[in-house]
Amino acid sequence: MPQFPGLLQSKLPNVGTTIFTVMSRLAAEHNAINLSQGFPDFECAPELRALVSKYFNAGLNQYPPMAGVPVLREAIAEKMESLYGTRYDPEHEVTVLPGATYGIYTALATLIRPGDEVILFEPTYDSYGPAVEVHGGKAVYVQMRYPDYSIDWAAVEAAITPRTKAMVLNTPNNPTATVLSAEDLRMLEGVLKKTNVVLISDEVYEHIVFDGYKHQGVACFPGLAERSFFVSSFGKTYSVTGWKMGYVAAPRELMAEFRKVHQFNAFVANGPLQHVFAEYMKNRDAYLQLAAFYQKKRDFFLEHLKGSRFKPLPSRGTFFQNLAYDAISDEKDTDLAIRLTKEHGVAAIPVSVFYRQPPTHRVLRFCFAKSEETLARGAEILSRL
Ligand SMILES: Cc1ncc(COP(=O)(O)O)c(C=O)c1O
Repeated sequence: MPQFPGLLQSKLPNVGTTIFTVMSRLAAEHNAINLSQGFPDFECAPELRALVSKYFNAGLNQYPPMAGVPVLREAIAEKMESLYGTRYDPEHEVTVLPGATYGIYTALATLIRPGDEVILFEPTYDSYGPAVEVHGGKAVYVQMRYPDYSIDWAAVEAAITPRTKAMVLNTPNNPTATVLSAEDLRMLEGVLKKTNVVLISDEVYEHIVFDGYKHQGVACFPGLAERSFFVSSFGKTYSVTGWKMGYVAAPRELMAEFRKVHQFNAFVANGPLQHVFAEYMKNRDAYLQLAAFYQKKRDFFLEHLKGSRFKPLPSRGTFFQNLAYDAISDEKDTDLAIRLTKEHGVAAIPVSVFYRQPPTHRVLRFCFAKSEETLARGAEILSRL
């Protein structure tokens, strides 16, 4: 194997293999029930697969337009207007991308120069910090308050400095499974009003909000929509995370700069799949019923955990259920996660990995985007601990 003979100075010296890869690998090695990584273990809709056959056989083999095929951009704009009340111009304000992570990364690449500050909330979804750092930015963290993971908007205001270029928001939130309220977003609107801060809003779980709550995102609030990149993922909405397809919507001024960066990176997202989603999006029920589908899974998992010494924290959105384990063990969550996998055959994600320094509270994150059989077997093992 060839070996690089020179000196290489890492731009991300603190980044190793992600915990998701580590836990999934460990789960496979020990034949454990994998409730760690956030992806569904069931098939996507057969209609969606039929459309894949149709469009992959339609001769759409060359580059689609850089911003995405017009029919899909129009479908996205219509959907966002009907759900959130903001009209985005499909020509200039919607771009189809190879996944939401790519959208967040590209938005940061568009905005951040060395020394710029970006506000992140901790616990933080794992891609944000490195995406800030790799562009020479400085992540400034605001803590979500345990155990309800609420946001102290006065602390957010205090964290903003003249160097603050952007803020990355995520609701419904991974890993906390919380959702922001309309009041939260109004507070944020007030905090950002007199600043030049651009908001990057990761709303990949926009359709997975439980207990009758309505998703509140940046497109519902004009004072936020005017300064935001809204980012979503077809992977989460249609249970096809491996297809890596997503999109971003933003005011024209922001999007023009974003497209300059996108143009020289991925340039386009997969062409045939764009037609697949454009057609499948006509079926509104597919996303409108997603919350009920996952709420049933959450409730099923919780029902099977009744009597367990794990203490469920509220899961108001996403497909994650956090469980506190103070009554079971004093171990670090990373140690317990490994022991649970090796000795008991259930894999979870230790929530401390979403922090720079492990917090004092002890919580594991379980993904319930799994078949009922898998959830029942996992819950049964957990209930014995
Ligand atoms: C908060 C959050 N953002 C983004 C993503 C990734 O989306 P995509 O696969 O479309 O890049 C995930 C996946 O787990 C996520 O949890």
